Amino acid sequence: MKATDGSEDAKRRAGESAADRVEDGMVVGLGTGSTTAHAIRTLGDRVEAGLDVRGIPTSYQSRALAREVGIPLVTLEDALPNVAIDGADQFAGAHLVKGGGAAHAREKFVDASADRLLVVADETKRADVLDHPIPVEVLPDAVPVVERAVRAEGGDPTLRSAERKDGPVVTDNGNLVLDCAFGPVEAPADLAATLSATPGCVEHGLFVGLADELHVGGETVTVERV
Ligand code: 5RP
Repeated sequence: MKATDGSEDAKRRAGESAADRVEDGMVVGLGTGSTTAHAIRTLGDRVEAGLDVRGIPTSYQSRALAREVGIPLVTLEDALPNVAIDGADQFAGAHLVKGGGAAHAREKFVDASADRLLVVADETKRADVLDHPIPVEVLPDAVPVVERAVRAEGGDPTLRSAERKDGPVVTDNGNLVLDCAFGPVEAPADLAATLSATPGCVEHGLFVGLADELHVGGETVTVERV
């Protein structure tokens, strides 16, 4: 799993806080990453204690963890989520940068289909203006085309390398990832629309206005409606 900055305790507090929002009978979108993993484990404990929920995973990682902790799984064909719980690489109010785990394509359609998205993060992820590099999932053959389009928008794309494999990261969908540094993103909706319209871009990690509630872990946890 990729390294992140926040303390494990802070992430755990955030994850537990969001998992406590889940009620009997709900369908829950299960995001990806180390903070969401705490929420999934907490939900697993609650299922063992009798909570009736069904999960919709967003990645190989969240599916495997949900199975390990005993959360029954369904697909979007069975039901849409009442709530989704997901992490972020950076948040500014309801806007997010996601995709540090290269799962943002599935995360986006699961999170967007939920009635409410609860974001779990530690304080190190907070920003006034998003400036984290934006992951863009790209069809392998389209890398040069998307790189050129990103540069034309003032971005600096870097093909994400795998850590324990030679060559690039390959997503759960068989695609590659360009991490695109744009500096401060003052108009996230405009950049999101431009990236979405780029041929060869499968999905990007700008989640514009999607968050409903932030569960932010530090020494304690704060819950913010956005
Ligand atoms: C995966 C994601 C993750 O939610 C994001 O990278 C945050 O992960 P973590 O909680 O490990 O910092 O978007 O694609």
